Amino acid sequence: MDHADSTRPASRTLTRLTAQPPDAILELISLHAQDERERKIDLGVGVYRDEAGVTPVFAAVKAAEDRLLRSQTTKSYLGPEGDIEFFRRLLPLALGSDVAAERVAGMQTPGGTGALRIGAELIAAANPNARVHVGAPTWPNHAPIFAAARLELVEHPYLDPANQTVRFGDMMAALEKAAARDVVLLHGCCHNPTGADLDAVQWQAVARLCAERGLLPFIDFAYHGLGDGLEADRQGLACVARHCPEAIVAYSCDKNFGLYRERVGALFVLAADRSDAALAQSNLLSLARANWSMPPDHGAAIVRLILEREELSALWREELENMRRRIAAMREGLARLDPALAFLTRQKGMFSTLDLTPRQVAALREEHAVYVAGTGRINIAGLAPHDLQAFAAALAAVR
Ligand code: LMR
Repeated sequence: MDHADSTRPASRTLTRLTAQPPDAILELISLHAQDERERKIDLGVGVYRDEAGVTPVFAAVKAAEDRLLRSQTTKSYLGPEGDIEFFRRLLPLALGSDVAAERVAGMQTPGGTGALRIGAELIAAANPNARVHVGAPTWPNHAPIFAAARLELVEHPYLDPANQTVRFGDMMAALEKAAARDVVLLHGCCHNPTGADLDAVQWQAVARLCAERGLLPFIDFAYHGLGDGLEADRQGLACVARHCPEAIVAYSCDKNFGLYRERVGALFVLAADRSDAALAQSNLLSLARANWSMPPDHGAAIVRLILEREELSALWREELENMRRRIAAMREGLARLDPALAFLTRQKGMFSTLDLTPRQVAALREEHAVYVAGTGRINIAGLAPHDLQAFAAALAAVR
């Protein structure tokens, strides 16, 4: 039977779809791949690259995979919560050891995105009228994730692009107006896309405000260890956990374990008491079941093995620390080349957002083979030492 002839447009479903624009960050990956120029610099998507431009597999990950290959005896289902031991081991790493485990519900998720999505759905189930307050700019995928859970996202100013500082007064003024039980979406560290993090005093002020006004902090924690180190990077989150009865944390192992395509993350839900934690857990399990049934196992099994074994943990920490230092060195290198880029050394992690117009971004790509997100975001971890001069010169040329 010929379907094309027998199906009239009026009876088709797919015709009714509206074409969607490609994701701007992901589109840069293919634009860069198609560029045949010999010397090109890719500061687009947020992946770490070493000095040779490679996104390496950690030696600790290779060793854990090797062990897994030899020891795994079954690939049978685990359950909607994923690998429980992975979750149990990740908890003190992500939240610190002061948070009582009985306060915490949660599960393994497919990447940080899965954690954000299931967290958003949990909020929507508990309070469909909650508004989600977030500083602008933020990770572009935040808006579609919360929209998919039918929650309204409300933006307030976050970065002052001319001074490259956090507009903290504006942020607090916006949060003062939030309704009780609204959500405050925060970046745990290494703010994406600005690199401009809250300092300790600011975290405390936000945590206090959330506690006083009954706001629910939701912390996107995707770059743990890439700012000031594992311990220092979780201080904001720990401050929130101390002050607020409830908080949600979406954790990603994509970057700090280099497991991007394995999709490893976790959702931690801090509840006021054990009974609320149990209530949240039962909801999370049924939400996960309806979304992906069970998360993929391989990456989480690798993280579990690394966290279980002292020697693998030590190796992983050392590799992560080297990555962190390399990113900081690139920030310092650019600041040395151009005093106007000195602010880069005050910012943390993979990203900063340069005050560039769309035309300047296009000129960087077309005339200098430098790939920067349309918003002016640069992935510092895409720079090698031999790129610094060329990048600073390209920047000066388009400005
Ligand atoms: C990024 O911001 O570039 C990364 O988090 C990758 C992504 O999924 O957008």
